[in-house]
Amino acid sequence: MTAGSETSAFSDFEHAGWQRLAGGYNTHFKQLVVQTIDPLLDAARVGPGCRLLDLCSGPGYVADRARRRGAVPIGLDFSGEMIALAKQFYPEIQFREGDAESLPFPCGSFDAVVMNFGMHHLGRPERAAAEAARVLCNGGKQAFTVWAAPSESIGHRIIFSAIETYGTFDLPLPRGPPMFRFSDPDECRRLFAGAGFMEGTAPRSLLGNPAFLRLDQRRARTRRAACDAA
Ligand SMILES: C[S@@+](CC[C@H](N)C(=O)[O-])C[C@H]1O[C@@H](n2cnc3c(N)ncnc32)[C@H](O)[C@@H]1O
Repeated sequence: MTAGSETSAFSDFEHAGWQRLAGGYNTHFKQLVVQTIDPLLDAARVGPGCRLLDLCSGPGYVADRARRRGAVPIGLDFSGEMIALAKQFYPEIQFREGDAESLPFPCGSFDAVVMNFGMHHLGRPERAAAEAARVLCNGGKQAFTVWAAPSESIGHRIIFSAIETYGTFDLPLPRGPPMFRFSDPDECRRLFAGAGFMEGTAPRSLLGNPAFLRLDQRRARTRRAACDAA
């Protein structure tokens, strides 16, 4: 199998899983994942009038919170089932079915791009970062959340050790990027620097500064893991 077809197999696997589990995700994960939304929107400076793209929007929680702040959000997700839920819950918001790695928007369309727990589901995160950079306007912000690595996260340690004890990781699943790759702030910096983002100082490129967030379960709070927009 080539690297390209492995990546496609991983994306197909993800897509099929989210199609199947959209309702269950809303029932069982909502209370957990909504906790990071306000810090995420704060990091991306989302306020009144902000043209916001919510990538991997799932059932639409982030876009809804952004709209309540007076922003103008569009949600995008590659699962039609997720999009259907989002439209049902928040009919006043625009949601589109599409791939975060190939965005159906012209350059410079948004003031901010956010992604709540989507990065580690992408087969080609470099492409998604480049696409986010392309659709952001001059000075635009990007922020995302990912889970902390099991060494820092009690929740993941419980799940992983239960699987080790009572199950197996040895399953014929398509190979994807390492799940906790972006729990490492340096890896985030490398990825976004490669996509043309700059850290901290006044933006010299068209792309502005990124802001990254990471969920730190051990300390039960979110913290800014890398750089924040000036
Ligand atoms: C963990 S859920 C997060 C949903 C939402 N952001 C939230 O906070 O609840 C991950 C979402 O990413 C979507 N997704 C995964 N890969 C994608 C891709 N390449 N393009 C668009 N959406 C994708 C899935 O369909 C799923 O809805």
